[in-house]
Amino acid sequence: MNQPAKKLYIETMGCQMNVLDSELVAGQLRHAGYETAQDIAEADVVLVNTCSVRGHAEDKALSRLGQFKKPKHQNKDLVVGVMGCMAERDPDGIIAKMPHVDLICGPGELHKIPAMIDEIVDSRQRSIALASSLSRKSTLLERATQYDSVEALDLARDPDPDENVLQAYVRVQRGCDKFCTFCVVPFTRGPERSRPPQQIVDEVKMLVDRGAREITLLGQTVNSYLHQEDDLPVSFGELLARVDAVPGLERLRFVTSYPGDWTTDVFEAMRDLPTVCEYLHLPVQSGSDAVLKRMRRQYTVAQFDELVHQAREIVPGITLATDLIVGFCGETDAEYNETVALVERSNFKNIFCFKYSERPATVAEKRLPDDVSDEIKRHRNNDLLAVQQRISVDHNQAMIGQEFEVLVTGYSKSALKAQEAEQSRGEETGWRRSDQLVGRTRGDQIVVFNGKPEQIGELMPIKVTGATALTLFGESALSTNSVKSPSLPVIG
Ligand code: SAH
Ligand code: F3S
Repeated sequence: MNQPAKKLYIETMGCQMNVLDSELVAGQLRHAGYETAQDIAEADVVLVNTCSVRGHAEDKALSRLGQFKKPKHQNKDLVVGVMGCMAERDPDGIIAKMPHVDLICGPGELHKIPAMIDEIVDSRQRSIALASSLSRKSTLLERATQYDSVEALDLARDPDPDENVLQAYVRVQRGCDKFCTFCVVPFTRGPERSRPPQQIVDEVKMLVDRGAREITLLGQTVNSYLHQEDDLPVSFGELLARVDAVPGLERLRFVTSYPGDWTTDVFEAMRDLPTVCEYLHLPVQSGSDAVLKRMRRQYTVAQFDELVHQAREIVPGITLATDLIVGFCGETDAEYNETVALVERSNFKNIFCFKYSERPATVAEKRLPDDVSDEIKRHRNNDLLAVQQRISVDHNQAMIGQEFEVLVTGYSKSALKAQEAEQSRGEETGWRRSDQLVGRTRGDQIVVFNGKPEQIGELMPIKVTGATALTLFGESALSTNSVKSPSLPVIG
């Protein structure tokens, strides 16, 4: 008689790279016979994919792992695992605080997880796989080769027929060599390596065959991509051209770019290649040259301003987003005000703003005092977000009356909530909120509009009729398809 399938519950914290890693690990385990558990209560294996970029992210992971103590106590066969950056950065700390954890696997070793689980089930011993423990004493070349064994993970990608791949991530690069003084990523994800272009193109083809319409290429400094192919360098611009040529692909995006390595040909690719979307996430981190220097960012504020200028000159309609850190070591009021000024003049669509969080082993932790109080960090964070809020509202309201191509990705959040409420009450309200859909413009803006369920997965022309800082509201611009409906409730 067949054994019932084992069940996997996987929880993901952190960046897009982690979302992709979790998807690939889940895929490997599905091939090994695992099914997905909706709830931890029915799981045989629980994995938490962790982030180390800020202390807060690690605290969250620890608190989540703490919640698995009781289920593990009640079921000794349950395998509890930690994967991702925190596993790589602090395995000893995890074991000390969370002794019920059975599996610890860094982001460079994820292809080993199915074998590690088998080993744990057989031996009832903890299993640990880390790139750093192997490589501390190795040469650079050996390190790169060891890290590269994880390539198997991406090469074995094989999404389930019913997996939603409408918008899919594809890794083009692993690791980072920049060693910004505040950042833990080079320590957790290892040196920068670019994947061979043909492997990337083949993966995109496979995903498009399975229904992907939008692909996002992932790397820590994605525009620094460089691969030697038959002794000839393939640049990021060239890679974009090759992926753009994949038949059937509608949209191509990439994150995250590094201003210090930017080359104009990438703007030209964004202008000339039909699939490449007019959206750029370009983290600046600070508007002060002195702070950028302490962060070792390798570009100046003037160079960043020039990139913003070129972006708007070369790529019509481009939207821009950035990351900023406030309260970095020694940041004065005057330096912070330079960041405010940069935000005010750049007209970003949105910003991601973070309070500086000191990370172990980084240069900043070793050499620069974390001397801005938490109160000031909080104040600057809120202040900067308020500045951007006004800019985002103006930015978005300027789009009212214009028409945009929208990739319809699903029901809007409030439609889903209303659907749930209707189901739990078992009653029908006259207006079908479930027909409120959500999608993205090529500029990466969220648009909510009334439509029909069969339009999910389609590209539709939408005319913008309203806007808040985060959301555009619109209506179908297809006259034959236009949906007559009561006005939309405003959703924040
Ligand atoms: N290039 C990477 C950067 C990873 S970290 C990428 O894919 O985005 C993402 C963002 O977190 C950074 O751009 C930075 O703004 C922020 N960040 C990184 N280290 C931080 C720290 N120690 N404290 C606060 N924010 C940090
Ligand atoms: Fe981190 Fe700087 Fe690399 S932010 S990921 S070290 S470019």
